[in-house]
Amino acid sequence: MDPKAVKSDLVLILDYGSQYTHLITRRIRALNTFSLCISGTSTLDAITSLNPKVVILSGGPHSVHTADSPSFPDGFVDWALENGAFVLGICYGLQLIVQKLGGEVRVGTEQEYGKMEIEVVGNSGIFGNKKVGDKQVAWMSHGDEAARLPEGFELVAKSRQGGVAALENREKRFYGLQYHPEVTHSPEGMDTLRHFLFDICGVAAGWNMEDVSEEEIRAIKGTVGPEDHVICALSGGVDSTVAATLVHKAIGDRLHCIFVDNGLLRYKERERVMETFEKDLHLPVTCVDASEQFLGHLKGVTDPEVKRKIIGREFINIFDVFAHDLEQKLGRKPAYLVQGTLYPDVIESCPPPGSGRTHSHTIKSHHNVGGLPKDMKLKLIEPLKLLFKDEVRELGRILDVPVGFLKRHPFPGPGLAVRVLGDVTQGNALDVLRQVDEIFIQSIKDAGLYDTIWQAFAVFLPVRTVGVQGDQRTHSHVVALRAVTSQDGMTADWYYFEHKFLDDVSRKICNSVRGVNRVVQDITSKPPSTIEWE
Ligand code: XMP
Repeated sequence: MDPKAVKSDLVLILDYGSQYTHLITRRIRALNTFSLCISGTSTLDAITSLNPKVVILSGGPHSVHTADSPSFPDGFVDWALENGAFVLGICYGLQLIVQKLGGEVRVGTEQEYGKMEIEVVGNSGIFGNKKVGDKQVAWMSHGDEAARLPEGFELVAKSRQGGVAALENREKRFYGLQYHPEVTHSPEGMDTLRHFLFDICGVAAGWNMEDVSEEEIRAIKGTVGPEDHVICALSGGVDSTVAATLVHKAIGDRLHCIFVDNGLLRYKERERVMETFEKDLHLPVTCVDASEQFLGHLKGVTDPEVKRKIIGREFINIFDVFAHDLEQKLGRKPAYLVQGTLYPDVIESCPPPGSGRTHSHTIKSHHNVGGLPKDMKLKLIEPLKLLFKDEVRELGRILDVPVGFLKRHPFPGPGLAVRVLGDVTQGNALDVLRQVDEIFIQSIKDAGLYDTIWQAFAVFLPVRTVGVQGDQRTHSHVVALRAVTSQDGMTADWYYFEHKFLDDVSRKICNSVRGVNRVVQDITSKPPSTIEWE
């Protein structure tokens, strides 16, 4: 998608490393306004070529007094003044404005962290109808503070300790908030952003998923030549499905998808996803049953990293064969590969000081398909690369991907291999795990908990314990249940089920799955553990 083709003014965020920067992007998009985030040290050319109507300088962990603290490029202020752009500094961003435009920033006498009361002290459009003397709660997190405002700037809100909370220079169109309007701990922050964007900057909104969908389809049609063919590996997850559906709408059956049954899928997973692909979405999908190939290579392997490597390697081998077969059939090489890369995977961020990182693309640590076929020289189509996960779900809804499918919990690329501890081919571990997992997930759905839980699954433990079932002594396996709440999978907490729910599930599992006589629950958060077990 070409950012310039979006029917909305652009609000560009220069990222100085605050943990909230991406939240600003999301909040602004929630106001139907297109917003992108780039590194705070981007070149003037990178900034101006996007032609933003508004530039927001984010917060960050730096101090403007440190020698190598990040800043906007030379010429930025002149460009903004000459081109009618509006600039808003948030936290560190405010301090940058103060320092660069001739004011003074000093280490605060009283550092302000957490919820603070601020008071309006000047009439400003940024606070809507609020009058001088009105107070509100705002989330602060800063050590430095603005000590002297640059010439032409006015103080419009102060903190309880008398510090600068908001300032503006209407003539120059520069604004600053010392607090974070983007977090929910600043209850009136969204109103402030709304007033700023629409009342002050006169932003024309128009970012919605219908337009994004149309624009994506148009862009794909424009990119892929009339004779070109495109391939896509479907994982059964939301991202690759939505990406493939978009491409299919654009070029029809010149899209060729592959879904690999690696023998590590959940109960009836292959039938279920293939039904969605074929019946609901009419995607041209080849289903390759490679379970013997995968399980053959995994036999006797117990090291989790080795398992992951083998699985990644086999995926590429199968994909390679698929692409070459297609080439034989079509008489020409496929030209493009579709990937469901999301915005958080590509966002450039400004790393915190001392982290040793330079600005770089954040790469997801897990990949479903480990790489491209070696000699295919495929060009990439990544239609979701400017979107967040919830936007991809919304896009999927518009493209008629069934809602139940869009809400599925994430499932790891290596599948059940990271949920059977040790050798996945031992006994009937995979089969037992599939049954236990199905009972657990179905019970969660029946209890109406599926959408509250971020991810839930069962784990097969390679230990046997003594039990008694039907007056018989048994020596059977233990399974563990894991359910977590999380925002993004980076950190997670275990889910607190009611005892009755756990009791029912445990009974159902022991009564209907042969080979299991004990059920335990995983009650560890991440960290210290991970979500998956291997
Ligand atoms: P962990 O276990 O690392 O999981 O806390 C975080 C999220 O990533 C998923 N996950 C994977 N996804 N390949 C994937 O495609 C993998 O090897 C992999 N390992 C973990 C996990 O399911 C959770 O959503």
